[in-house]
Amino acid sequence: MRIELTRRYSFAASHRLAQPQLSEEDNRRLYGKCANPYGHGHNYVLEVTVTGPLDPATGMVANLADLDRFVHREVLAALDHVYLNEQVEAFHPACGGQVPTTENLCIEIFRRLEPFLSARLCRVRLEETGRNSFEYAGESSRRP
Ligand code: NI
Repeated sequence: MRIELTRRYSFAASHRLAQPQLSEEDNRRLYGKCANPYGHGHNYVLEVTVTGPLDPATGMVANLADLDRFVHREVLAALDHVYLNEQVEAFHPACGGQVPTTENLCIEIFRRLEPFLSARLCRVRLEETGRNSFEYAGESSRRP
């Protein structure tokens, strides 16, 4: 028997959408007000879904305390209340980082959570605002 577990978390972070090789004007044209040089913040809502066989001894797919500890250590400790562009290597232009769109943030969170051992990571869903969210489930070839 396979069952999915989804757990919800939240964190706040700021970012700026801009390509370092583009001019201010071009970034403004591409990303609109999200290219504001001083950045802006979001209260992100993160949903983490894991799956696996039900443990007959506990009746659980994974222990929530284990999942919470892992998500806090790998994601929230690194991303909560930070400026993503400068405080997270994956988004730092000097490190060849990606633009911290919520799409890229979703993928980065998936990458950080993939090593979770107690259950298999299914997908990550990230809400940027009440009106838009993104989901990433890894590369399709790796799905069962
Ligand atoms: Ni934004």
